[in-house]
Amino acid sequence: MGDPEPLAVCACTEASLATAEGLARSLGCLLAPVGVMPRDYAAARALLLVSDDKLALQLCGRKMPGPVSVDFGSSGMRHRRAAGHNELLGKAVGVGRKSALSVIDATAGLGRDSFVLADLGARVRLCERHPVIAAMLEAGMDAARNSGDSWLVERVSRMQLHKGDACLLPPEQLVDVDVIYLDPMFPARTKAAAVKKEMALFQYLLHDSSGDGEATLHWALQQQVARVVVKRPARAEALAGVAPSHSIEGRAVRYDVHVLAALG
Ligand SMILES: C[S@@+](CC[C@H](N)C(=O)[O-])C[C@H]1O[C@@H](n2cnc3c(N)ncnc32)[C@H](O)[C@@H]1O
Repeated sequence: MGDPEPLAVCACTEASLATAEGLARSLGCLLAPVGVMPRDYAAARALLLVSDDKLALQLCGRKMPGPVSVDFGSSGMRHRRAAGHNELLGKAVGVGRKSALSVIDATAGLGRDSFVLADLGARVRLCERHPVIAAMLEAGMDAARNSGDSWLVERVSRMQLHKGDACLLPPEQLVDVDVIYLDPMFPARTKAAAVKKEMALFQYLLHDSSGDGEATLHWALQQQVARVVVKRPARAEALAGVAPSHSIEGRAVRYDVHVLAALG
């Protein structure tokens, strides 16, 4: 047998087969047999699992971490809120200084920071250029919209997805934007299983794009916005060596704030 493909799409049941076929076509990847288990599948290194309302990504093989998906209604997302993780990010982007703050999340990833910002009342445009991550994000946003949970529906109504590179956003989508937010880092090193499996997946999908954060920061600093905010590991140097105006420090992360104009 030849080398495994990087990715295959798999319908968990026959009911999801048409969606899986469409995704495999649009992502230009293999379609795996319906219901195949990632631990038993050797023809690809990762499987994008399609079920009724969800996309989940899992590395193939035994002893690999479990699936990762975008679930804004999960207890993990609600815990972030209850644990006060929102406060530092909210302060960094300037929540409360202007009503209905408009933010571009230039590195949306799995959308957790965007969701936190939407929860704080901001309107958020999520930019994600990796087609697989963008597809997961879209599925997670659709699921939230259709959840029937009014709390979730209201938050997701403030979120809009742009599947593509933030640096290529058309100029009209940058009008009246207050803040550009960037999180180019991989999740922090931790023993928490949930973070470990996300990190494994991000590193697998994005292995060739480290260092790109610098170009995105240079682009962001040239836009007509009041602030550019960059999330960094607590003790890391400033991104691209560009000193921020000030930083908001947390235990594991720091938000570097580049103030370009007054907010509001
Ligand atoms: C570390 S993850 C961000 C995690 C995210 N903050 C969250 O809360 O889930 C970085 C993501 O940004 C994306 N990315 C990096 N540069 C980008 C750019 N210029 N435009 C769009 N997406 C970008 C990568 O594909 C990756 O999915």
